[in-house]
Amino acid sequence: MAVMSNKNDEPRYRAVPSGRAARLGQFGRLAAGVGGGMLAEGARRLATGEVPRMSDLLLTPGNVGRLAERLSNLRGAAMKLGQMISMDAGDLLPRELAQVLARLRDNAHHMPPQQLQQVLGAQWGTDWRTRFRQFEPRPIAAASIGQVHRATTRDGRLLAIKVQYPGVRESIDADVDNVAALLRISGLLPKELDIAPLLAAAKQQLAEEADYAREGEQMMLFHRLLADNQGVVVPSLDKEFTTSSVLAMSFVDGQPIESLAQAPQATRDTVMTKLIAIVLRELFEFGVMQTDPNFANYRFQPDSGRLVLLDFGATRAVAPETALAYRRLLAAGLGEDRMAVRDAAVAAGFLGQVAVDGHGERVDGMIDVILQEMHRPGPFDFGDRGFVGTLREQGMAIASDKAAWHLPPADILFTQRKISGTALLAARLEARVDVRALARAALTL
Ligand SMILES: Nc1ncnc2c1ncn2[C@@H]1O[C@H](COP(=O)(O)OP(=O)(O)O)[C@@H](O)[C@H]1O
Ligand SMILES: [Mg+2]
Repeated sequence: MAVMSNKNDEPRYRAVPSGRAARLGQFGRLAAGVGGGMLAEGARRLATGEVPRMSDLLLTPGNVGRLAERLSNLRGAAMKLGQMISMDAGDLLPRELAQVLARLRDNAHHMPPQQLQQVLGAQWGTDWRTRFRQFEPRPIAAASIGQVHRATTRDGRLLAIKVQYPGVRESIDADVDNVAALLRISGLLPKELDIAPLLAAAKQQLAEEADYAREGEQMMLFHRLLADNQGVVVPSLDKEFTTSSVLAMSFVDGQPIESLAQAPQATRDTVMTKLIAIVLRELFEFGVMQTDPNFANYRFQPDSGRLVLLDFGATRAVAPETALAYRRLLAAGLGEDRMAVRDAAVAAGFLGQVAVDGHGERVDGMIDVILQEMHRPGPFDFGDRGFVGTLREQGMAIASDKAAWHLPPADILFTQRKISGTALLAARLEARVDVRALARAALTL
């Protein structure tokens, strides 16, 4: 999420629609906007002699822009979901849609001051200002279901305070259903795929993310689990000001993690090695994982070289069978055993048996590519993404057979979301990491 560091960059204040009717109205306008765009584009294509396809019509940049614009006005769960999809399926979605969904990450609006006052008054009592030496009225960051303010308490504690938009919790179920409906009409979700379990998991996860008291507990859990790690900082909870819709914590200084892209290779390598080691500990040692690898959840302190970890709303317990599935995959990969990798991938639910039976050669080809990359001498170079194209091509070829479509269990998907997001960050930073050594060490955890 964009940090409003640029003084000229005035935040866009717009009241968050919180009533049910207001939110439905947002979706109505979205549908009308997309529909209108569709007609216009259809007419243009017909006029130029092209036969329009439904999915092309829906995915014009204009429509995608409208979709993103509406989702960001709606905020709440719809926006969080948009972020999830763009991050997870970024490599698979049509480029226009991926781009504009990604825009959601930087495109939030803020509560106007009166609405903020209302929310805080209800949470802290109307005299809350007397408890602060200073409360910066202008948010330092926009979040998906809230906004973050910096404040100093009477006794001098410097806090970051995440304030949730009103109405978020009540709208989660409807928002998830609405986004699913939008994806379906866009042709991105084939009817063959049973996404009901996934939608249920998304609703549950979003409900948990909207409970800031729970997030505070998870943050303290990580604070304790990582207390021995001098290289990372996790904010500490401020219980006095935390409620279910206000999360108060120590303010932690830092720069956006992407700013590291300009840092020396060794710095990028060290930071990513540290981060990947933590992900492996979450999976194999802690049994809990922060599953939201949005880049804005990581920051960097140039002076101390420390990595800042933020946002523990998406923390989940890792099921023992999920950890075991990854253990088997890693062991098979380290052993360069193609058949064992294939079996482990099927057992984990990454691959359906139909795909293996019908497209065995392609599947084996993909595994070979991965094994070859994994076992090249030297550290793994995340910046060298040449092989991803091959994998995508083969994956798409398999995916063209709808019978082979297969959805991994939700628990695996959430875990995988963290792993792919971490790899994406490593790729963005073009880091080189000795992944084999980390994996070998992790298997002894
Ligand atoms: N403790 C903190 N110290 C400094 N900045 C913070 C802190 N917590 C959050 N922020 C800022 O607010 C942004 C959004 O917070 P985050 O918890 O990630 O919200 P969300 O759950 O909506 O993603 C972060 O990316 C960061 O810029
Ligand atoms: Mg976040």
